[in-house]
Amino acid sequence: MDWGLQNRISQIIKPHNNRALMLAVDHGYFLGPTEKLENPKKVIAPLLKYCDSLMVTRGIQRTCVPATTDTPIVLRVSGGSSIIGEDLSQEDITVSIQDAIRLNASVLAMSIFVGSKYEYQTVVNLGKLVSKAEKYGIPVLAVTAVGKELGKDERYLSLACRIAAEQGAHIVKTYYCDNFEKVVQSCPVPIIVAGGKKIPERDALQLTYDSIKGGAVGVDMGRNIWQSDHPVAMIRAVRSIVHGNSSVDQAYNLYKKLADEGSKKKNRSNKPTQTKPTQTKPTQTKPTQTKSDPTKK
Ligand code: R5P
Repeated sequence: MDWGLQNRISQIIKPHNNRALMLAVDHGYFLGPTEKLENPKKVIAPLLKYCDSLMVTRGIQRTCVPATTDTPIVLRVSGGSSIIGEDLSQEDITVSIQDAIRLNASVLAMSIFVGSKYEYQTVVNLGKLVSKAEKYGIPVLAVTAVGKELGKDERYLSLACRIAAEQGAHIVKTYYCDNFEKVVQSCPVPIIVAGGKKIPERDALQLTYDSIKGGAVGVDMGRNIWQSDHPVAMIRAVRSIVHGNSSVDQAYNLYKKLADEGSKKKNRSNKPTQTKPTQTKPTQTKPTQTKSDPTKK
């Protein structure tokens, strides 16, 4: 493998343990200002130091991520449809390779929609993107199975992941399912699991644990982190599973402890500062020296 390609992959999948924690904040590219991601800059800032890489679009990268960051960027380069449009699967490549290089992307990410109306277009686009990106030593991550109409079972996910790998994707992102090991076994490149819609924190930690146990290199999690009431506590708990080999119980206890500490800190800073009641000096009113009323004498 080319040095540059290998180096960029190892920025995302840490070579010492072959694990990856990616923070997904690219949702706006088809969802607009989705719940709790209305202000991406505010969402990203406290979480950046806890993820191995950040998945964003170029617009959010340029406006909401400090250029001084040392967190590698997974740049979404596909789009074209919205949640209110006709068909979510009608995507094309929206970012040139030159712009991706200018943005110092470590990995390019795009979706393929196997089994949908635009299957052909998206799968061919993946092959073309891999050919272009490999010229510059940039790996490609294929996102599979987004869209609620697609079955997210072992059979479908194995098919979609394998097709992505056959087109040359270097990493595949997909969903967790029963018999997930089989999806991993039939895909020759590393798999990262997407978090999916918001579920209770403990369940999201269980998903993380099961994904890794099933053979995924890690998770690319979005909503289950930043839609949590305690995003920092949540990303740290997820991280403790991905990189610290914590059990679900250990990770959940960590989440609760950090969330509790966070709430206390917030309460303290929200309390109005107790100022001593200002002791207003009673205004010394001079007894008005009424001139003696001569008449009262
Ligand atoms: C979906 O197309 C996006 O690529 C998201 O990055 C992906 O679904 C992961 O985010 P979440 O954990 O919120 O599902």
